Amino acid sequence: MKKKILITGGAGFIGSHVVRLFVNKYPNYEIVNLDALTYAGNLDNLTDVAQKPNYSFIKIDITNEAAINQLFEKQQFDGIVHLAAESHVDRSITDPLAFIRTNIIGTVNLLNAAKNQWNGNFEDKRFYHISTDEVYGSLGKEGMFTETTSYDPRSPYSSSKASSDMLVRAYFHTYNLPVVISNCSNNYGANQFPEKLIPLAINNIKNNKPIPIYGKGENIRDWLWVNDHARAIDVIYHQAKLGETYNIGGINEWTNIDLIHKLCEIMDKKLGRASGESAKLITFVTDRAGHDLRYAIDSSKLQRELGWKPSLQFEEGLEKTVDWYLANEQWMNNITSGDYLSYYEKQYKNR
Ligand code: NAD
Ligand code: DAU
Repeated sequence: MKKKILITGGAGFIGSHVVRLFVNKYPNYEIVNLDALTYAGNLDNLTDVAQKPNYSFIKIDITNEAAINQLFEKQQFDGIVHLAAESHVDRSITDPLAFIRTNIIGTVNLLNAAKNQWNGNFEDKRFYHISTDEVYGSLGKEGMFTETTSYDPRSPYSSSKASSDMLVRAYFHTYNLPVVISNCSNNYGANQFPEKLIPLAINNIKNNKPIPIYGKGENIRDWLWVNDHARAIDVIYHQAKLGETYNIGGINEWTNIDLIHKLCEIMDKKLGRASGESAKLITFVTDRAGHDLRYAIDSSKLQRELGWKPSLQFEEGLEKTVDWYLANEQWMNNITSGDYLSYYEKQYKNR
């Protein structure tokens, strides 16, 4: 069936993988990628699909209500997959308002535009909001987040995402807007901006720079290969029951320090260094304020109801990821010049 789908944040890390999957898998869908091209948005992520006949790009900031409304007056969408967001916890600690604007107000602008466009005619329509496991708060040593775990966000980033999730649900209950939400754990893979732990560490190891580990490196994250997240988004977009929430995770918990040791081993091998050489770069620095101890996602609902499961073991995914960054040196060089240097200096100088 022909469909027109708006993907927001498609020039970012996860969004670019979702755009690629949808453009290639569904030639009969028209995919419109909407992105403001903030520091995190990069059209170089999409050079392989940029010329495809079913793909187009439009530069709009979702906080600009008038521009969003104009777009929805000009184009009719069957579905919206909403990924555009400010996504980095450390930046939310220094500039919370940017997160409130994009993640909350931006999301409401899109909800309103969809509600007005569909005007009660919701057949085959879908507003799919991409969220995070961080809305559930922080776990101790035991337990996992399920879809019914109470929200307990603890950073400006996770609070803004929690708030947007609540608003999406409110539009379902109040206006019957056909919504779906998913909450995913930490993603890793190609095209991730090197402010996040894994690409930052790969880049620093390659350049023989210190690898900053917050606190004692004991915090635990559940890592999922970004391509597996994109596959889950495809399945949920097409098969989920409206109004439902699905958790997505890798069943793959690592302390930061163990993960970095594994990465150093892989990098030693790939760079032809003596075993243990890269690990000498590990540097413990001042902890992140309010640093959540542990996230772990129970994705059994998604596995049981929609048949999704992760496709890759972590070691294999990490090795593929390292290979990608080493083969795409120019991609990394383009984004680690200019603004990145001043961000890095501010974020890590006095830690
Ligand atoms: P990212 O920072 O790499 O990309 C975000 C994209 O949104 C960028 O292309 C940016 O230009 C765009 N954007 C930002 N503000 C915008 C605005 N005001 N208007 C229009 N576009 C704007 O983020 P990501 O890691 O790809 O995350 C994508 C989504 O997935 C986010 O909603 C995030 O909360 C969620 N998520 C991320 C992870 C993860 O591990 N990265 C895990 C779970 C959920
Ligand atoms: O859980 C999903 C979330 O995962 C997403 O919603 C966020 O958008 C995404 O950024 C990610 O959040 P984290 O804060 O977990 O990711 P980050 O890569 O920033 O950090 C991973 C862990 O590594 C965390 O415990 C903090 C630590 N860390 C991070 C950086 C950047 C360090 O020790 N040193 C660092 O320099």
